[in-house]
Amino acid sequence: MSGAPIPLRLNGQPATLHGATRRLSDALREEAGLTGTKIGCDAGDCGACTVLVEGAPTCACLTPVARVAGRNVLTIEGDDPMLTALRDSFLRHGAAQCGICTPAMLLTATALLHRNPHPSRAEAEVALGGVLCRCTGYGAILTAVCTALDPHSPQPEADGIIGTSIPRIDGQAKVQGDLFGADLWCRGGLLVRAIRAPMAPARFDLGDLAAWAQARGAAVFTAADIPGRNRFGVIPAHADQPALAEGHVRFRGEAVALVATPDDQPDPDLTDFPVTWHALPAVTFDTAETAAPLHDHRPGNLLIEGRVHRGDPAAALAASTHHISGQLTTAHVEHAYIEPEAGAAWWEGETLCIRACTQAPMLDRDDTAAILNLPPDRLHILPSAVGGGFGSKLDLSLQPLIGLVTLRTGRPCRMVFTRAESMIATTKRHPADLRATLGCDAEGRLTGMLFEGRFDTGAYASWGPTVANRVPVHASGPYRLPAITATARALHTNGPVSGAFRGFGVPQATALQETLIDQLAEQAGFDPLEFRLRNALAPGDATTCGQKLTAPGIRECLLALRPHWQRARAATAAAKGRARGVGLACGWYGCGNTSLPNPSTIRIGLRPDGALVLHQGATDIGQGSNTVIAQIVAETLGLPLGALHLIGPDTGLTPDAGKTSASRQTYVSGRAAQAAAAALRADLLRRMNMDDSASLTLRGPTVQAIAGGRQAQLDLAALPVNPLGYALMAEETYDPPTQPLDPDGQGTPYAVYGFGAQMVELEVDLALGTTHLLRVTAAHDLGRAINPTLARGQIEGGIAQGIGMALMEEYIPGRTDNLHDYLIPTTSDVPPIDCLLIEVPDPEGPFGAKGLGEHTLIPTTPAILNAIRHATGVIPDRLPVLPHRLLAALKDRGPP
Ligand code: FES
Repeated sequence: MSGAPIPLRLNGQPATLHGATRRLSDALREEAGLTGTKIGCDAGDCGACTVLVEGAPTCACLTPVARVAGRNVLTIEGDDPMLTALRDSFLRHGAAQCGICTPAMLLTATALLHRNPHPSRAEAEVALGGVLCRCTGYGAILTAVCTALDPHSPQPEADGIIGTSIPRIDGQAKVQGDLFGADLWCRGGLLVRAIRAPMAPARFDLGDLAAWAQARGAAVFTAADIPGRNRFGVIPAHADQPALAEGHVRFRGEAVALVATPDDQPDPDLTDFPVTWHALPAVTFDTAETAAPLHDHRPGNLLIEGRVHRGDPAAALAASTHHISGQLTTAHVEHAYIEPEAGAAWWEGETLCIRACTQAPMLDRDDTAAILNLPPDRLHILPSAVGGGFGSKLDLSLQPLIGLVTLRTGRPCRMVFTRAESMIATTKRHPADLRATLGCDAEGRLTGMLFEGRFDTGAYASWGPTVANRVPVHASGPYRLPAITATARALHTNGPVSGAFRGFGVPQATALQETLIDQLAEQAGFDPLEFRLRNALAPGDATTCGQKLTAPGIRECLLALRPHWQRARAATAAAKGRARGVGLACGWYGCGNTSLPNPSTIRIGLRPDGALVLHQGATDIGQGSNTVIAQIVAETLGLPLGALHLIGPDTGLTPDAGKTSASRQTYVSGRAAQAAAAALRADLLRRMNMDDSASLTLRGPTVQAIAGGRQAQLDLAALPVNPLGYALMAEETYDPPTQPLDPDGQGTPYAVYGFGAQMVELEVDLALGTTHLLRVTAAHDLGRAINPTLARGQIEGGIAQGIGMALMEEYIPGRTDNLHDYLIPTTSDVPPIDCLLIEVPDPEGPFGAKGLGEHTLIPTTPAILNAIRHATGVIPDRLPVLPHRLLAALKDRGPP
């Protein structure tokens, strides 16, 4: 280890670190092996690396090792009575979702509780304000901190029955410092860095790579080293993105080469890498349709257009008593998960292993295998814990890059994106340019709608086709609407690649549609909530795709909100002299792929010794699928959840449970899990000649069934085992029963929909243009709350991201490639949130459950926009509503 030895006390023990000027975070992780200290930005912006130095929260990435000489440093691996109490409290309250921020939150809260054992929410907000969380919306964290030492705090529910808030079963790992993509690697291997385009579009020429590499003891790899198909994409028919660019880059940040050096050497200086750039004219969102195509086979830069057409909307609008038109422009939004992309690769015999953060292990395997020209069964994807994904970790990032280095060198390697690299190289929410007209009759019944959306899909296809197809289906909102033409065009530009981000374009479209609903209600003389109720889809109503719904829960959501709405409207009207407003918005969302197969398969096995094993391949990126699917299995089997041994996603060990996207895991993988558990239970009962009324117990290798005073036993050890080592095994697949859409978008795009309605109370500072949120009340129909605490966590987290989209988040390439210029909500930006869990069971879902993940963000932005209009009279037409934009709009509006 180079550098002078620095003595300190680390987690109560004498220790030595080396390198006086080295970052403490780096020394803790690389030298001391304490990977619970996470690195999210290396710039002091996210706080993920917070440790306690002499009891004070300290950003380890900004602290040179010399500064802790002779001092006490506490990391998440250490011991402290407050830390122990906080860990328990975080588990009880579901305060750790993905878990990447959890060590820093816990340590920062430890310092707070030592000063103030019973902090108020406001005190906790201030204390934790320097640590960012992208998953939780902070509410559960603040509650966990404020009640950690409260002896009356509720205890966790004991077992995994459906509807109980058991702590997440992977929670202990989260509160101890879980292992993410950057946290496990083979020492003594190679460290991989990417050379990325500083401009786009551009041609580039590579210089003398061999001489440059030799002088630095490095190895360099380019597209010429890729043995297979240098193209990938989440939708195979549109796969168009090279793993390494070939002479031409289409977006800033595109990778053109890899540099691999021994990971015990200092980081190489890449600034003199031999590459020459030749800038080309850029295609922008404004010029996309008229500029030369980025991809020759896509004239007009049109990737795809989605469409839903029903009735005669032009005639319906012409005959309407009231109609309203509007437009809205939205920005690139960055996922800003706290964990930058990271992973490692190595060989095990003839198999290339890749461990990385991902939402889609099987997709990773198949696409990476094609790039590396390996049969898929020679590539093993082992997902790490995922420190937030929200859609962006569905796309390949570093998997083919580290795979290529290990394939070519035979050596293990690792790669960790910097914060800037994560922001410039990965996908974004699609910017949109939206226009719509909506009408109703004199009785307030919606009559017709015209909707047009242009979406900036960036340089490559990614999830552009999904956005274009999903938006028209949802453009009406969850209402009866007899006539509509809705189109969405995904257009290529030289901007960042736009992909999946919690809602696939629906949040942008809803932001316009729900603000028009509000204005139309006002014009027609109706209360906004009653107007929505009047038009809300009811059982048996058809959507604009002609699909009859059996269990739409939007009316129940609105009815649950009604008393809150009436209270808030009255309070707002009484708040004289302040620009206070209250706004409401609804949302709906089809769970799973749009009119495409998206099966999940779940396997459950009983070993001869009685071990009950659940092979659950759905990646848990914080949303809780590990726990929810286990609860479904335990309930269906009639055995305690504690009997289950979970084998998480691993392409070598778990069958394909599809992608963690489109709010599909609870519903689709949950149905597969329910079917597998039911099949295993039926097999057990049949072998014991018992009926389904029997209760089961599992004691060692013996299964016992009891019903009606009769009992039977089955000795698992006496049964032959299958090739996987199981005495009994069930594996079941479920694929949602959807149908293709016809050219007018008519058909059955989704089998199950979830619904929600949210209300936002806020104040606008008319002098500064700032918007201060006071409270959010959210009613969400999730069919059946398998685990209410986890469900509330999804709602609060989605709302926090909706707040960011509405008020602060705008990714501008080259200007906001970090977390101090790109702002996401902190503890003080997210107000108290009241969650109302509405259960309108869907017969298709497991125990009636619907999806929830994306639904939670969709109503938030329009509810904020409606509240701003209520407060100020201003109709925002561009997101985010930054203070200078709101001030300009207020100025245009003139005196109220
Ligand atoms: Fe905080 Fe994921 S739980 S960032």
